[in-house]
Amino acid sequence: MVYNTIMDRNTKKSSQSNTNQEPSTYYVTTPIYYSNDVPHMGHTGTTIFADIIARFKRSVGEKVLLTTGNDEHGEKVYTSALSKSQNVQEYLDDMAKEWKKYWDELNVSYDYFVRTTDPKHKKVVQDLLSKLYEKGDIYKGTYKGVYCIGCEEYKTERQLVNGYCPEHRPDQIVIKEEETYFFKLSKYSPIVKEKIEKNEIIIAPENKRQEILARLNEEVKDLSTSRENGEWGIEIPWDKKHRIYVWVDALINYYSSVVILNKEEFWPPDVHVVGKGINWFHSVIWPAMLIALNIETPRKVFVHSHYNVEGSKMSKSLGNVISPQALIDRYGIDGTRYLLAASMPYDDDADVSFDYFDEKYNSDLANGLGNLVSRVAKLAENLDIGFEEGILEESKEKHEANNTKFVSKIVSNYEDYKLNGVINCIKEYIDDCNLELNKKAPWANDNTADAKRDVKTIIVSILIISAFLEPIIPETAKKIREIFVTEKIKSTIPLFKRI
Ligand code: MSP
Repeated sequence: MVYNTIMDRNTKKSSQSNTNQEPSTYYVTTPIYYSNDVPHMGHTGTTIFADIIARFKRSVGEKVLLTTGNDEHGEKVYTSALSKSQNVQEYLDDMAKEWKKYWDELNVSYDYFVRTTDPKHKKVVQDLLSKLYEKGDIYKGTYKGVYCIGCEEYKTERQLVNGYCPEHRPDQIVIKEEETYFFKLSKYSPIVKEKIEKNEIIIAPENKRQEILARLNEEVKDLSTSRENGEWGIEIPWDKKHRIYVWVDALINYYSSVVILNKEEFWPPDVHVVGKGINWFHSVIWPAMLIALNIETPRKVFVHSHYNVEGSKMSKSLGNVISPQALIDRYGIDGTRYLLAASMPYDDDADVSFDYFDEKYNSDLANGLGNLVSRVAKLAENLDIGFEEGILEESKEKHEANNTKFVSKIVSNYEDYKLNGVINCIKEYIDDCNLELNKKAPWANDNTADAKRDVKTIIVSILIISAFLEPIIPETAKKIREIFVTEKIKSTIPLFKRI
């Protein structure tokens, strides 16, 4: 497979060209982020994570759809827009440009940027809500409860700590009593539970699946899906006094995107990548709505934990929020992508800091990968080596052995979305190349043919490594190919400058 990957790239053959099969589709999504602020490191980590999965799937020949975007309704977005004393829609337009600017700069290969104020999205939301209403799955009632504006969510007693939301400032908590339209979540939650138990909806990692199953064992209440007399949001089509609850509107983005793009073949989503705080919405509320609508449910919800900064939750009031710009300024585009992927928290929250990032950047990128590439390029220049057809043949045996040692492990880590696993295997592979080089010492070998063969073997390994690094650090992978896939290999400036 890897041989094909590399050869295909060199001969510009599509990875599908040797099969007659239609590529399978793969739909991966990020959450759509609130437009009340610019992205921070957490949003950036999720987005890059989803991009890496999308790029990996493309590299193995799947037809991929990656969506991301902005969640533009809800109280906090509206209040934030007003506080900037601008026209709300203009503010949202500016914010959308700002978020896109980051994703473009970071080479996020999204196919579609969702905006929930798009009239085409609004129409899909209204159509789906009307269907639920006509079916009798939405009914009118009164809701009284504790609402957290920060989460845009009614909270249960169990979710509060001393009466407050653990995620947001105390002033974000309000008591609300309002006439609302309820969705019969309680009718559908047992079906969702069964689907999760049978893994028809996969929630990963396992501890996040268990959290949902435990909550589904308790009483599930119907979901309030509208706000009365709101100023901002999509109107309930049959009762214009009400606006649709921002989460119901937002979740539908995953469906409206394929409708708007006319790409229904991508349905259902293969994976929703989300942070732990929004697991319930994606693993229970969203599938329940889809079941009620007779639409196929997503195959998987991948729920990562959160980055903490130097032991604390990232928060504006603590002043410890790390911006993507700060990371880009210090580590470059690929450095930022690599560090966020390598430190992606899985089962539990994980601590990061600039000290940690500096060390990881220096050891893995500047020393590990960067050094190997410089060293081998210099040797190749001295030995007058170029990349030619057949280079793979000479070292085939060695690479078949490496296939079992590293490559299959890298692929299975990618398939399990374990990016830190991928990165660790690649590091082992790089170490192995360095050891091999030291052992063979081609610089001290008087037999030039032997020395050349040894260096070529390492060049092939580096190209295999770069193929697997492409989803994570695409620009660097391209640079590596440019350095080695040429008639006359020359020494080169370091790929990563040490910090
Ligand atoms: N608008 C909703 C999502 C609607 S999706 C239909 C929302 N937006 S958000 O702007 O608050 O973004 C939340 C997401 O940002 C989390 O799910 C997670 O992906 C990411 N992160 C926010 N803080 C984070 C960390 N500290 N660490 C890692 N990711 C985190 O919720």
